[in-house]
Amino acid sequence: MSDTQKELLKTLAVRPGRPLRGETDVPGDKSISHRAVMFGALATGVTRVHRFLPGQDCLSTIDCFRKLGVRIERPSPSEVVVYGQGPGGLKEPSEVLDVGNSGTTIRLMSGILSGLPFLSIITGDASIRRRPMGRVTRPLLEMGASIWGRENATKAPLAINGASMALEAIDYVSPVASAQVKSAVLLAGLFAEGRTSVREPLLSRDHTERMLTAFGAKIERSADGRTASVEGFPELRAQEIEVPGDISSAAFLLVAASIVPGSELVLRNIGLNPTRDGVIEVLRAMGGHVQVENAREAAGELVADLVVRSASLKGTTIGGSIIPRLIDELPIIAVAALFAEGTTEIRDAAEMRVKETDRIAVMAGELRKLGADVEERPDGMIIRGGAALRGAETESHGDHRVAMAMAVAGLLAEGETVIHDAGSIDVSFPGFAALLERLRS
Ligand code: S3P
Repeated sequence: MSDTQKELLKTLAVRPGRPLRGETDVPGDKSISHRAVMFGALATGVTRVHRFLPGQDCLSTIDCFRKLGVRIERPSPSEVVVYGQGPGGLKEPSEVLDVGNSGTTIRLMSGILSGLPFLSIITGDASIRRRPMGRVTRPLLEMGASIWGRENATKAPLAINGASMALEAIDYVSPVASAQVKSAVLLAGLFAEGRTSVREPLLSRDHTERMLTAFGAKIERSADGRTASVEGFPELRAQEIEVPGDISSAAFLLVAASIVPGSELVLRNIGLNPTRDGVIEVLRAMGGHVQVENAREAAGELVADLVVRSASLKGTTIGGSIIPRLIDELPIIAVAALFAEGTTEIRDAAEMRVKETDRIAVMAGELRKLGADVEERPDGMIIRGGAALRGAETESHGDHRVAMAMAVAGLLAEGETVIHDAGSIDVSFPGFAALLERLRS
């Protein structure tokens, strides 16, 4: 077994204990780290990325761009330097591009590869090969890219041959609120004559729109933000990017501190982009104590420190337009709901089923192993708070956010909670287990 395989199978054991106290940063934002490397590779000049997330997913993005011939250096784990030479600097890869577990890498790169006049083959791990790719290949085919793949080009591996001439600009109406779909189309739009637009049913995270604007692209957005458009063939210029802390990672500590009595944490430099901050709204609606301090702007993104104290939570209903603003936080929100008085309902969240795992089925199944009262629904779950939890052997199913959510649940379950296959945590939050221990000592 290789070292990587051993890491992936790492087991994490958690016992209840002291409250969480102290101050900490969290690793850099995953969505922003990916985009900084991608846009830096398409720009001309040297893009420096500070506080880059050295998680497996973002390392996969670096690896793919190196295979496309881009020089990328890492003077330290969280500093990345991309030597961009414009799209012309990207060359046909002689190897398969392997995105590992990263949906953002395969979907956003599909958009970029559609604009490049050579053949690339892109694939990932078993989870990636199960996840739907038709949501990006459909509009990209419409724009003129040649794409082959399993199940009629809807599953990876994908073989993408960009058009040798410009792509065709389209006005795409996306059936899903997905930043990965929106970004793939906008990135392909960089290689299309004229203006390409995407309209989505609900506003999803808008890091692409913000960061592409900073790199010099002409992005326009409708008043409600749900339509974004880009002009083809801009000259992208290298940028200096300070990546904020990932609110999706901070969410595990926000919930841990909210539910473990006597806790108080200060989380520094957290990205509070309004398309990502739904977890704070939900925790507050549940009676949680989360304060925002030192709010400031950095590289077009809102950043602040968060102060969180333990609280008596109550159940709530989560659905509608807030879902894209907390889609990755639903596993840990489900854990918060276990310790809330009353019932919590999560609905309109069928997208949870096509993440790294089917997070509705997996979270319901794993939480039940601890004795939780969780009912699965086609588009969410119903969680009745207050059941006494007992530690048990649980599985992450290779899903980083499931592993961390189960670890937080274990902080208040009697005895020991074991999470198998917890090495997947390194996908987005390297050092999570050690940080949790430090904050409890
Ligand atoms: C991401 C978009 C979201 C999110 C993922 C990161 C991005 O996926 O779940 O973790 O960086 O664009 P969808 O676009 O599929 O909703």
